[in-house]
Amino acid sequence: MAFPRLSAIVAIALAASQAARASLTKRVTCASGHVTANAACCALFPIVDKIQADLFDGGECGEEAHSALRISFHDAIGFSIYGGKGGGADGSILAFNKTETAFHANGGIDDIVDRQFPVFLETGLSAGDFIHLAAAIGTGNCPGAPRLQFMFGRPPPKAAAPDLTIPEPTDSVTKILARFADAGFSPREAVALLASHTIAAADVVDATIPGTPFDSTVGTFDSQVFLEVLLKGNLFPGNGSQSGEVLSPLHGEMRLQSDFAISQDKRTACFWQAMINNQKFMMSEFKAAMAKLQVLGQNTKKLIDCSDVVPVPKPFTAAIKFPATFSKKDVQIACPQSAFPSLATVAGPAPTVPPVPGS
Ligand code: HEM
Repeated sequence: MAFPRLSAIVAIALAASQAARASLTKRVTCASGHVTANAACCALFPIVDKIQADLFDGGECGEEAHSALRISFHDAIGFSIYGGKGGGADGSILAFNKTETAFHANGGIDDIVDRQFPVFLETGLSAGDFIHLAAAIGTGNCPGAPRLQFMFGRPPPKAAAPDLTIPEPTDSVTKILARFADAGFSPREAVALLASHTIAAADVVDATIPGTPFDSTVGTFDSQVFLEVLLKGNLFPGNGSQSGEVLSPLHGEMRLQSDFAISQDKRTACFWQAMINNQKFMMSEFKAAMAKLQVLGQNTKKLIDCSDVVPVPKPFTAAIKFPATFSKKDVQIACPQSAFPSLATVAGPAPTVPPVPGS
């Protein structure tokens, strides 16, 4: 009689595992018709539409989308895994903006705070949920970006983050990596987060040339920035050499001192080079590091995974290329252990990179 009992146990176990799987994949249909993993996420769909309409010109990868990603970093990084710093990804940069926008590393952040603040108030979200939802949506407006995670339910921030937690472009690699480590990120994750600079431009590094991009494809979340930061530089795009800036290879393009130093340092150079023309790898590295960043300091057990409210980004599938007139001979290779990828060159004369409109 042992045999039938065993098969009954197996049947029960199977049913239980099927039920567990079903509950894992359970979907809820909201009154709006959207399908999501959790009924609590239904409230977010109209908010996503509002953020797209009011902040991102209906879904553009423009200045506000870029800045939404930058402010999410500056909000979250005010945190230490050892305690004694800020509340992390809590929206304090928005709620306590008078204090935090005065920090030196937050130059230019007041513009995006001014743009986001009224929309934030209208949504009724906590400041942390707003900042990190807007970052996921804005980043996703850029073709090639991964669909970032969004966890819902951050409580309101308790206090402003302390100053001097945000890396500056003039910092040494050792200082930058130490700051990232203090917040819980490895050198590899720090490089992954710097994929953000593929949709980035500077307004205040050289205030005479606002909106100066860090790569020639600032509207696309591709790996072009990892290539272009390695090209030999020979010019400053604006009013001569500014603090935090080093020589750039292209007219209209700015190179941050920190990006270049990280691309050349033996602790990070091979992670940097590995991103080049490796779109899927770059997307997954960035997505994973951002998933950590966007919940720093939060009790994740109390958050609800509402990632499926984030619109799906358009893919980028082309091979990246050297800008016209450049080739492998112009690359300052800093990872001799790995072969440098073989890339074609865009035809024609060397480009002048246009500024990001509206900067
Ligand atoms: C070593 C660490 C970093 C340094 C030193 C750094 C520095 C800078 C600087 C100086 C600017 C230009 C500011 C201006 O003049 O307007 C900038 C822009 C930007 N940064 Fe970073 N950054 C770092 C890491 C990150 C990370 C981890 C993210 C996101 C995950 C990020 C996202 C951005 C974005 C999206 C912009 C462009 C904003 C816009 O175009 O409006 N940065 N960064």
